[in-house]
Amino acid sequence: MNLLSAVQHARVKLTAGNCSNAQQEARWILDQVCREFKLQDDADTVPQAAQDRLDDLVQRRINGEPLQYLLGNTEFHCLELLIGPGVLIPRPETEILVEEALRLYPGYGIVCDLCTGSGAIPLAMAKNLPQTSFMACDLSEQALHWARLNQQNNNLLNVTFFQGDLFQAFPPDAGFSLLTANPPYVSRQEYAELPPVVRDYEPELALLSGEDGLDLLRRIIREAPQHLLTDAWMLLEIGATQGNAVRELLRHDCWREVRIRKDYSGHDRIAIARKPG
Ligand SMILES: C[S@@+](CC[C@H](N)C(=O)[O-])C[C@H]1O[C@@H](n2cnc3c(N)ncnc32)[C@H](O)[C@@H]1O
Repeated sequence: MNLLSAVQHARVKLTAGNCSNAQQEARWILDQVCREFKLQDDADTVPQAAQDRLDDLVQRRINGEPLQYLLGNTEFHCLELLIGPGVLIPRPETEILVEEALRLYPGYGIVCDLCTGSGAIPLAMAKNLPQTSFMACDLSEQALHWARLNQQNNNLLNVTFFQGDLFQAFPPDAGFSLLTANPPYVSRQEYAELPPVVRDYEPELALLSGEDGLDLLRRIIREAPQHLLTDAWMLLEIGATQGNAVRELLRHDCWREVRIRKDYSGHDRIAIARKPG
């Protein structure tokens, strides 16, 4: 079998398996196999081991595994990130948070990223702000394994990762000039209704946040002021239906200049506010 027949074979199987983007995914999966087996684009024959690997990846995709876990990487903002089971697949909406945070960085001080997962947010920011120091945390050692790999792979030594529960992860005297977080924000009911490609594969710890999805957001809004410098901005990714509730929480705790930014689908997505005076 040559590469052309291999990709056609994969496409037919993915189509039969109800994969909606079979043509493109067959190409991506084959590219991955070519990289793993160091096959050139014009290879006349696909070795049996590479064919077996291709069949395995196609079957796992048909069984519902997320494409990004199968490929082992994903693009985020200006970076290619390595990812796999145990860490959330970074979403394009989160790139909006990165863009806003880069605009609001005051030009001094340490940036904090809570619930960092693969390190997507601080690493993308660090690439754009090479002179700035970042501290990022996650409760999950598995997630931090991917974050550290991504840091090494992208050679971004201005980010330090800590394991622990929100601010408790950091040295007690740390004060931050900007805070970002994409915490878990899915309610129990939404979690039960998530598509299997998300619920069955991505970590529950990265998604579910109590009965109403607001547990972590509530804690961050309450705890953040004592860790922020005067006038510091905070940017939080939120669920599409959480804009009003999060605005209320922020106003209740006297955060200033509160606004909710929508994503490209028109859904509430990023809460932005300034430290209470
Ligand atoms: C929605 S994921 C976001 C990952 C990453 N920031 C991104 O945008 O791709 C939430 C992350 O929060 C972490 N997490 C959950 N509870 C936490 C806690 N109490 N303290 C720190 N991290 C936590 C999870 O392990 C997960 O990696």
